[in-house]
Amino acid sequence: MPHRNAVVAFYDRFGRKQDSQGWYEDPALERMIALGRLAESRAVCEFGCGTGRLAARLLAGVLPTEARYLGLDASATMVALARERLAPWAARAQVLHSDGSLHVPAETGEWDRFVSTYVLDLLAEADIAALLQEAARLLRPGGLLCVVGLTPGRGLLTGAVSRLWSVLHRLHWRLVGGCRPLDVAPLLPAARWRVLADARVAAWGITSQVLVAERRG
Ligand SMILES: C[S@@+](CC[C@H](N)C(=O)[O-])C[C@H]1O[C@@H](n2cnc3c(N)ncnc32)[C@H](O)[C@@H]1O
Repeated sequence: MPHRNAVVAFYDRFGRKQDSQGWYEDPALERMIALGRLAESRAVCEFGCGTGRLAARLLAGVLPTEARYLGLDASATMVALARERLAPWAARAQVLHSDGSLHVPAETGEWDRFVSTYVLDLLAEADIAALLQEAARLLRPGGLLCVVGLTPGRGLLTGAVSRLWSVLHRLHWRLVGGCRPLDVAPLLPAARWRVLADARVAAWGITSQVLVAERRG
């Protein structure tokens, strides 16, 4: 796995180009918005918010008008882009620049959604475990973990595409932004999470996993 600092440096350079990934991300993000019942949320925490594209979509047309949003990213470029994009909602949306650690400086048990899209698939498994613990700390009992990321395809074409993607990731991770196809469901400790939805969404041969899990009380 690439070192955390190298990944952040990559996204500092990649910046606005992240928005061009919508051709395969958007169908999965829309599914996550529906399965995660974001329209009912009052407090959303997003880890690895990138340019703030998902946050703007949520604040503009999904979340109730009184809902608050907290985004966090380790890339200074991404934080600047997200803050600019979310300026119209500055009274209820905040974006923090993190140090790349998996700690989120926010209140325990105060959030009803913990969202992370196309981020867990670039973390090492030990970091994913630490991030899931942090999500459980932040969410109130009954709150929802909403995760989207690349996952192995199950069809002939989608399976071949994800095998090729994994090879590229091993050979030259920057070609694929550090992300690799991953199944996150087995990484969720059953004592802490109840999986409500585990969907596969394929777009143009690329498969994404949409995982929604409830934090147990
Ligand atoms: C593939 S992009 C996805 C961005 C956005 N969530 C989206 O779906 O468009 C990965 C994002 O995770 C951020 N990131 C990577 N490692 C991180 C870490 N350890 N802590 C916080 N953010 C991180 C990157 O800076 C980048 O913005």
